[in-house]
Amino acid sequence: MKNFILLAVFLMLASCGGGGNDSATGSGTAPPIAVSTPPGAPTISAVQASDGAATFTVTSSASGVTTYAVNCTAGNVNRSASAGTSSVRVTGLTNGATYSCSATVTNSAGSSNPSTAVNVTPVGATTAAFRGDVILGSPSNDSIKVNVFSSTQSGSITIAYGTISGQPDRQTASATLQAGKPYEFTLTNLAANSRYFYRLQFTAADGSSSGSTDETSFQTARPAGSTFVFAIQGDSHPERERTTFNPELYRRTIAAAAADQPDFYILMGDDFSIDQFDPASITQPLVESRYTLQRPYLGIIGKQAPLFLLNGNHEQAARYLLDGTPNNPAVWAQNSRNSLYSQPAPDDFYSGNTEPVTHVGLLRNYFAWTWGDALFVVIDPYWASPVAVDNIFGGGARRGSLWDVTHGNTQYLWLKNTLEKSTAKYKFVFAHHVMGTGRGGIELAGLYEWGGKNPNGTTDFSTRRPTWGNPIHQLMVANKVKIFFQGHDHIWVRQQLDGVTYQTLPQPADPNYAFDNEAAYLSGDKFPNSGYTRVTVSPGGVKVEYVRMYLPADEGPGKASGSVAFAYTLP
Ligand SMILES: [Fe+2]
Ligand SMILES: [Fe+2]
Repeated sequence: MKNFILLAVFLMLASCGGGGNDSATGSGTAPPIAVSTPPGAPTISAVQASDGAATFTVTSSASGVTTYAVNCTAGNVNRSASAGTSSVRVTGLTNGATYSCSATVTNSAGSSNPSTAVNVTPVGATTAAFRGDVILGSPSNDSIKVNVFSSTQSGSITIAYGTISGQPDRQTASATLQAGKPYEFTLTNLAANSRYFYRLQFTAADGSSSGSTDETSFQTARPAGSTFVFAIQGDSHPERERTTFNPELYRRTIAAAAADQPDFYILMGDDFSIDQFDPASITQPLVESRYTLQRPYLGIIGKQAPLFLLNGNHEQAARYLLDGTPNNPAVWAQNSRNSLYSQPAPDDFYSGNTEPVTHVGLLRNYFAWTWGDALFVVIDPYWASPVAVDNIFGGGARRGSLWDVTHGNTQYLWLKNTLEKSTAKYKFVFAHHVMGTGRGGIELAGLYEWGGKNPNGTTDFSTRRPTWGNPIHQLMVANKVKIFFQGHDHIWVRQQLDGVTYQTLPQPADPNYAFDNEAAYLSGDKFPNSGYTRVTVSPGGVKVEYVRMYLPADEGPGKASGSVAFAYTLP
């Protein structure tokens, strides 16, 4: 990262719109002039982006202008400011996100129409001293984890934070960061339902650099009755760079999601695939490299929105690979997940898996929490199963019957208890896929542990899972789960079954914009890659939006990054 402020400003100015510029601008001291008509639309004649802000020069030929205003939008977020002079500074912007900004002017007769919009991308002085990233995790009503990582730098680090922007009143003890090793701070004694602002302060061990990162903020747990946004991405598959993954598109998608200022960001799995490694030569550093590969991308949003990870089939964090030693892909994968991404363990805010695994400890692979009016439940189809649920690491014939794979009695009973005891207005369940394998949504929901039936329609669930009572789908129906979210199929599909919405999520960074597995979905609202999903939870309902993202060269009529391809609201 360079040692100066990077400016990325893209102007799309109207061709000399607004007429002549014959009156002095910026004369904020002049008294209002009585006029009979509102001013014509002004122009934005200059814009300078900076760290989390942008300053606009608004030009108007009208007389008697008293107020200059600028409104910037990115996704569903608006930021605006006004001034008595032609220089208007808009703050509270997310670095790296592209905003569409337009200006209006006002005189005694009224306000103008908006100017032609200009695009602005603020990029701050992030990490002038620190070449690494910060990823938040496990937010609660009174704490959060701050996970710091640099592949190249060692030094001392502290977090300065507080509830007022620019005025940190608390600071962690200094810690030692070693290059290539994550360090996890826990900020405690935070106030619930509050926004905290923080900076990482870094001093290189060799004295070569010292300084603070940009100020960033996060949110502690919301009470019932709140309105908030969370965002979700499907299978990113960065290991497929030559085929279905584009780094620039991934950065654009994540930055757009960050601009929505979600309270957290959920990854649906298949983000850390190790399947391309040879089982004969795979090592712990190779597995961990899949997790460090994602840090620069996920740091774009993870510094402000805590990340929750779901286990995918390609992560191979699964019991069937355990061999009693610390040296196997399952142990390496789970330890990489938990050390580089601070996932929740059961405490007074989260419930989850309490069974430690030798050489790992607590898996942190399934967990639940309540935020505002919503219960969030993440389940894991892979860890508990004694046989591979989907593809076998290194290849080989897949398991026979899907009755041989299982979510496990313990996870099932936890899920049942979690859903039954929650009084949340909305309940969301997240898994990489129905049963962790196959293609489709409600097409598979009647089968095996999920729906109780065999493929031929017969039912022997009560002998297959004698202690369960209900299959998973019926459990969700009985407990009024609002939406079940899944990934794996690389397509955006909205379906419904027995009152439960089945929402399948697309890839965030597929430059082919493929319509994968479309034939497997026999019904529903279907859209191809790429993009992310924005969910707004409010007392009046849950709004789900598929936000499409494109590479700049692929944008055009009907193909605008940030446009909503499909939206629905559930009461
Ligand atoms: Fe998958
Ligand atoms: Fe996938």
